[in-house]
Amino acid sequence: MSRQVPETLFFGRAQELSQMGAWLVRAAGGEPQTVLIDGPAGIGKTSLLRCFLAGLTADHCVLRASGDELEMQLPYGIVTQLIPHRVHGVADAGAPQPDPISIGASLIDALGKFQDRAPVILVIDDVQWADTPSLHAITFVLRRLRVDRVLTVLVTRDAADPRLPHGLHRILEEDTTAKLTLAGLGVPELAQLNQALGLSPLPRWALARLRDHTYGNPLHTKALLQQYPGALLSAGDTVLPAPRRYERLIAERLDGCAPCTRRLVGAVSVVGMSAPLHVAAELAAVADPLEALAEAMTQELLIEGAAGAMPRAGFPHPLLRAAVYRGLDPGERSRLHRLAAGLSDAPGIALQHRVGEPRAGPCLEGARQLHLVEIEGTELAPELRSGLGLRVQRDDDGLTDRYVARLPERQGYLSPPCLDGTGPQLVFHQQHIHLGCVTFCNEKWPILAHMQDCAA
Ligand SMILES: Nc1ncnc2c1ncn2[C@@H]1O[C@H](COP(=O)(O)OP(=O)(O)OP(=O)(O)O)[C@@H](O)[C@H]1O
Ligand SMILES: [Mg+2]
Repeated sequence: MSRQVPETLFFGRAQELSQMGAWLVRAAGGEPQTVLIDGPAGIGKTSLLRCFLAGLTADHCVLRASGDELEMQLPYGIVTQLIPHRVHGVADAGAPQPDPISIGASLIDALGKFQDRAPVILVIDDVQWADTPSLHAITFVLRRLRVDRVLTVLVTRDAADPRLPHGLHRILEEDTTAKLTLAGLGVPELAQLNQALGLSPLPRWALARLRDHTYGNPLHTKALLQQYPGALLSAGDTVLPAPRRYERLIAERLDGCAPCTRRLVGAVSVVGMSAPLHVAAELAAVADPLEALAEAMTQELLIEGAAGAMPRAGFPHPLLRAAVYRGLDPGERSRLHRLAAGLSDAPGIALQHRVGEPRAGPCLEGARQLHLVEIEGTELAPELRSGLGLRVQRDDDGLTDRYVARLPERQGYLSPPCLDGTGPQLVFHQQHIHLGCVTFCNEKWPILAHMQDCAA
């Protein structure tokens, strides 16, 4: 399942592109603009820049540079990318390093010459890896642009990065600096991406669930679409996977932790996105959960719940939970689910753990539990029990039948995966009935219910 997509694929971001266009117009009119683009790795910062620059119609002078992890210690590496051969003293072997002020002055000089011909777009990508002398020199330049025809675009993952010089932080925090924090792509863009990858269409609810799972990050979504079959991505009752490279990264981080920390992180993943610390500790048989949590936090595997509340441990991102959960040995995962079912007072949650514990299989116990869910006031239960209002719908892949139950609008708590564009629906597949389980969702938790007799 790995098909290459051209790097130039680009969907959405119309608003961001139009904002950047407007800032360029201002800069071209002699009102210099500084723009900060930030957002997490893979969110599409470089792609947005590439698309913006590719779409320029008028004549512009583009000066580009990008930071690199391996070149962070190379003094003036960024400046020499921006204006090669124009900065004296930088590359002279053995000579003392020129100071950022004189290099900044050379840069101002060069900008002056370029902007006489055309408006200048000065782009620095991956600022988080730029060398410090260059950043000082650029800060010097930015503080001195007054009526220049210069649009400066600084791109970084985290604008609060403590590596950036104070002076640059001050500029980035100014009201006059335009900010563009990129969020993930929406469902329509993910559908376009899926199509551009040449893959079979996924139902809208599956794309919505994928978006929730990756926060719409195009890098991760693309990797998932390429690495896993559509049937897995649109199976209602599974924890979606994480991209393989991401899984390996998390596995390495876990390997570096003490065994009790590994057990605690694994136990939280079985409970869900987060768990009360005492529950995770009991599941994981960890005597000192605070120590294990501290290590997991240092390794950026877990975060702590809000201070003052009952201590909770959780994952900062659904992909991290997925990587940990799916990295568990299947036997261990099943054992933890069984234990978690025994620890939970909420019948719906206990039921969910029973389904996560494959050895349970379809069982009458499940049906009994379903009854409890109903008693608890879950409005979905009558629909499930009687199968009333079910209609069969052939899936987009043409192979699977979906059973769709229309639900009253007032059940607005259904989460996006259950919304199929036509209002709240309960969607489940024939195979789930055969397996004796049906998937539906409430606001946070997918509730998986064994349904041996109910819908057959
Ligand atoms: N709008 C988009 N439509 C389609 N694909 C996109 C879009 N934006 C980004 N991508 C794809 O997502 C991947 C990551 O994008 P990109 O390299 O631009 O992210 P980034 O934010 O610059 O990441 P990093 O912080 O690691 O530099 C690329 O494969 C790119 O093709
Ligand atoms: Mg980038």
